[in-house]
Amino acid sequence: MRLEGLSRQIALSMAAMALCVTLLMVATGYAFYYVALTYWPVHFEQSGWWLTAPEVLWLVSSTATGLALSLLMGIRLARRILLPLNSVAESMRRVADGDLNARAAAGDRSLREAAMLADDFNALADQLQLMSREQAFWNAAIAHELRTPLTVLRGRLQGLAEGVFTPDEGQFRSLLAQVEGLGRLIEDLRAVSLAESGHLDLQLQETDLAAEVRAVVEVFGDALRAAGLTPVLELDGRPARCDPVRIRQALLALLDNARRYATPGAIRIQARVEGGRCRLRVEDDGPGIPEDLAPHVFEAFRRGDGARQRGSGGSGLGLAVVAAIAHAHGGEARCGTGTGGGARFELSWPG
Ligand SMILES: Nc1ncnc2c1ncn2[C@@H]1O[C@H](COP(=O)(O)OP(=O)(O)O)[C@@H](O)[C@H]1O
Ligand SMILES: [Mg+2]
Repeated sequence: MRLEGLSRQIALSMAAMALCVTLLMVATGYAFYYVALTYWPVHFEQSGWWLTAPEVLWLVSSTATGLALSLLMGIRLARRILLPLNSVAESMRRVADGDLNARAAAGDRSLREAAMLADDFNALADQLQLMSREQAFWNAAIAHELRTPLTVLRGRLQGLAEGVFTPDEGQFRSLLAQVEGLGRLIEDLRAVSLAESGHLDLQLQETDLAAEVRAVVEVFGDALRAAGLTPVLELDGRPARCDPVRIRQALLALLDNARRYATPGAIRIQARVEGGRCRLRVEDDGPGIPEDLAPHVFEAFRRGDGARQRGSGGSGLGLAVVAAIAHAHGGEARCGTGTGGGARFELSWPG
C-alpha cells in the first residue's frame, strides 16, 4: 500500500503522536523510579502490588501531558487539512452569491487531495467566469446586430410617415430587404442556439450532393460573378447521407463570404464522398483568413477587422452556422489556406 498526500500526512501524524506519548511515558517512568528508588527505597519496596500516592501522581500527570500533546498535534493537523477545505467552502458560498471572482487557496501542497480539491474548484470557477463573460458578449452582440437594421427601418418608416420619402416601389423593396435581413439574423441565431443545446434536428436522407451544389451555385451564380468570382465545380455523383436543406444553407454561407471577402478569381467548390465520409470544400484565391482570426473563425460574432470596417452587412454568424450544421451531422468544419493562398473551408461528416 502506497501512502500519499492526505493519508500519508494523517498516518505520519498518528505515528509521531504514538511515539511521543510512548517516549514520554518511558522517559518519565525511568526518571520517576530512579528518583524514588534512590531517595525512598524502603517506602517503595514495602508497598507490594499497590500503587503508592507518588506513583499515582506520576501516572496521572504523564497521562495528562500525553493527552495534551496528542490534542495539540491533532489540532495542528486538523487546521492544516481544514484550511483548504474551508477556503473551498467559503469560495463556493461566494460563487453561489454571484461573486465569480472568488478562488480557493490550495495551501499546503503536501496534503495532495485537499490541494487538488481547491485546484479543481478554481478550474470550475474559471470556467464559470468564462461562460458568463461569453454570455454577456453574446447578449451585447445580439443586441447590436438587432439594433442596426431596426434603426434603419425606423428611419425609413419615419421618413415615409413624414412625407420625406415618397412611398414608391423602391422604398418598399428596401424596407423589405431590411426585414428579410432581420429574419435571416434571427434564423441564424436560432440555428446556433439550437446546435449549442444539441437540439438542431436534421432530416437526414440519401442526397445527391452534386445536384444540391449545382442548385445553390445556379441561384447564387450571378452574385458571385458580380463580385468577379468564377465558380469551378469538382463534384462526384455519389449519394451522401445528410440534411440537404442544412447543407445548402452552409454552402450558401460559405459562398456569401467568398462574395464579400475574396478577391476576384476562381472559387473552387468540391463535393466528394470518399471512404465513408462526405466532404464539401470551398476555396477562393485570396486574401485568406487573417492569422489571428483563424482559430476563432467558427465562433459566433468573430469577424475580421476588415469585415467590420467595411460594414459588409454580415452579422458574424455565418461560419458559426456552418460549424453548427457540420457538428449536427456528427462531423466537423475546418478552415485553412488553399493552394492559391486563399481561404479554404471544409465540411466533412460521416455519410
Ligand atoms: N472567404 C473568406 N476570405 C477571407 N476572410 C473570410 C472569408 N470567409 C470569412 N472570412 C472572415 O471570417 C469572418 C467571419 O465570417 P462569418 O461568420 O460569415 O461572419 P460575417 O460574414 O457576417 O462577417 C468574416 O468577418 C471575415 O473576416
Ligand atoms: Mg458571413
